[in-house]
Amino acid sequence: MDKINVKIINQLKDNYSYILYNNNGDASLIDPAESLPILKYINKNSLKIKDVFITHHHKDHTSGIGDIIKNFPKVNIHSPNAFIENTRYVLNHNDEVDTHINSFKIISTPGHTLDHIIYYDDHNKILFCGDTLFRLGCGRVFEGTLNQMYSSLKKINELDDNVIVYCGHEYTLNNLNFLENILDKKKLYSDIRHKIESDLAISNKSVPFNLLDEKSHNLFLNQDSQIGELIKRELMLKNFELFKYLREKKDCF
Ligand SMILES: [Fe+2]
Repeated sequence: MDKINVKIINQLKDNYSYILYNNNGDASLIDPAESLPILKYINKNSLKIKDVFITHHHKDHTSGIGDIIKNFPKVNIHSPNAFIENTRYVLNHNDEVDTHINSFKIISTPGHTLDHIIYYDDHNKILFCGDTLFRLGCGRVFEGTLNQMYSSLKKINELDDNVIVYCGHEYTLNNLNFLENILDKKKLYSDIRHKIESDLAISNKSVPFNLLDEKSHNLFLNQDSQIGELIKRELMLKNFELFKYLREKKDCF
């Protein structure tokens, strides 16, 4: 398969959409919210949008679909939910989707919404995780239960360390401030703060990021890291209890 390129497109206040494309000009989109900046890049680079992949039903991940179809009437819309406008293929856990560009394995991750799915490309080691995982955080639990979200994050934690993660929002600094302050552990996060601040200085983005870094620093994702063990001892909490404690505190941070 061809080399795959991923272009990050800023959307709305702090959303990200992604354009995946190969050297033949075939393109897929992840979670288009605002079509204008997407189509600008597509036209400038003479790309053809063949497929759109949606992670969940929230408007800030779907509102660009209509305009994309106007410009590319044959585009295939893949989503987890038949109620998402213009869905042609409804995707379920463990489905595999092959496009001109790559293959995605579908992983169901209920919690933020009940329909949430994420798109994993094992060959290219890339993951598009919408609002399930953020750098140093995770999505708010709107529709599912804390237990569901915890299990969904465990599925991500089991993926290969080398995976590069593309998430749905730029929330990293807020997440970092939360972890440093709520746990009173600024020192533990000094290396990762340095890394994040230098990422932001270069591109104004902290996305994409390495799953291995998340496994060591993101306590929503993994409670068995060195930091996790330390915090669990101090707070006398087990894995799920620590996740619940942090998610509930974060809701009012
Ligand atoms: Fe969302």
